[in-house]
Amino acid sequence: MELTTYQVKVNLNGTFEEFPLELAEDETSHLLVKLQDMLRNWPKLAKFDSVQVFKKGEPEMVYELPQAFLSSPMSISIMGTGYVGLVTGVGTCHIGRRVICVDIDEKKVDKICKRIPPIYEKGLKEMLVSLPEKYFSCTTNLREAVMNTDCTFIAVGTPPKENGEQDLKFVESACAELGKILKEKPGHMVVVKSTVSPGTTQNKIKAMIAEHAGHTNFKIAMVPEFLREGLAIEDFLNPYRIVIGVEDQETFEAIKFIYEDFDTPFFKTTLTGAEMIKYASNSLLATKISFANEIGNLCKSLDIDVYEVMDGVGLDERFNRKFLNAGRGFGGSCLPKDVKALVSLGKTLNQPTELLKAVWAVNENQPLKMIELAEKHLGDLKNKTVAVMGLAFKPGTDDIRESPATIIIKELLEKGAKVIGYDQFAQENMEKIYPNITYAKSPTEAIKDADVVLGVTQWPELRDEKLYKGKLFIDGMKFIDKRTTDDYEGICW
Ligand code: UGA
Repeated sequence: MELTTYQVKVNLNGTFEEFPLELAEDETSHLLVKLQDMLRNWPKLAKFDSVQVFKKGEPEMVYELPQAFLSSPMSISIMGTGYVGLVTGVGTCHIGRRVICVDIDEKKVDKICKRIPPIYEKGLKEMLVSLPEKYFSCTTNLREAVMNTDCTFIAVGTPPKENGEQDLKFVESACAELGKILKEKPGHMVVVKSTVSPGTTQNKIKAMIAEHAGHTNFKIAMVPEFLREGLAIEDFLNPYRIVIGVEDQETFEAIKFIYEDFDTPFFKTTLTGAEMIKYASNSLLATKISFANEIGNLCKSLDIDVYEVMDGVGLDERFNRKFLNAGRGFGGSCLPKDVKALVSLGKTLNQPTELLKAVWAVNENQPLKMIELAEKHLGDLKNKTVAVMGLAFKPGTDDIRESPATIIIKELLEKGAKVIGYDQFAQENMEKIYPNITYAKSPTEAIKDADVVLGVTQWPELRDEKLYKGKLFIDGMKFIDKRTTDDYEGICW
């Protein structure tokens, strides 16, 4: 394998020492990790002031790094290999850090070690496969991962409880395990990635780790994740912003360093500020969608196309056009959970959250509108065959959590309809919840015998007008251009 040689020039309080650093071709993106490993083991470390790195034989400097570089977290362990943990882990290694992912689920770990992503996410497999062995690994051994890294990201799930509050059981056990290990490792950095309600990082996570570690000699930060499923890799590499909630400037700078190649605003805030920014962001997206849906419901009554209305509205930069696509409402593991969590927080704080309650109420009713439209044409749906096209909560993912399709299928079954579902990627997951409905192998097979076709999640392959020719089609997400014939109904147009 070809080697690339760098020349490293270390400034030792005014005197310079130089040495070469050789990296294999697939290691060059991890230059900083290798350099840090070398410098940390260097005998003259006490006098270290800064370091310059050049590509051998080339005059331009590749890096100039201050003293703080030695303590910047270049090696990171990540607890939890769900959507957030795995994409963050793979992405963070891709941008040149050493990453050790940790999960308690041996099967998942085994798959990741074999470079098979346990979830479907566009571009993830390709990126996972390309990571050098030396810089990316996955294990069930948390101790080993933490002891060999400078910083641990907590990226375990925070699912909602029945009452809308978040369930912190995974976060709590992660803190207890991490705390016990930090007993022997003072000075570690802990970054909370899991979405947690304001105050949790300070009052629960930090407190629990300290309790189990027996000391408070660790740094803590809250860095919320803004990845969209299906576009998570793209979002990771092109973030709108990186929000860093910290207790001190030093931790802010250290975390900024992890992402130093990103040309994006780094927003410094408090731990609680960061937690609230995440909740507020998702709730604002949900609000935009419910707003578009409410206007859309009015538009439907007036025979106006809400997409045209939102195109007009969205031209004003103060609003922008994004997240104003009306339809069957929002689903997923994030928007519904975060809106409900803020409503629940409002109750705890005795603060009204009327707007968010309304956002939720609009959303709960929206998928059912598709069934009402089917009934308008067919009357009672008992024994009618209904094709549900697109089962995932949105295109580009196999995730069906809080998917509008689940609400629609439930209601159809209660009404005694025969349901045929189709989704190339999400069918397997839907089968776990609804094993007894029929699943089609192709869009045409799903539609063939249907009395009515419901367009729920607009995968590109389903946005083909020809598919629905001659069928009663209820369009829940602008699958196709509005037909003027009576066998077409748009939900909000
Ligand atoms: C959302 C946020 O967009 C991310 O920024 C955030 O990081 C993530 O939650 C999270 O908290 O982890 P995600 O749940 O992947 O991402 O999905 P979105 O793309 O936001 O879509 C959510 C739902 O809204 C989907 O059901 C989608 O079909 C629906 N939607 C979206 C609409 O109905 N109309 C729109 O205009 C946009």
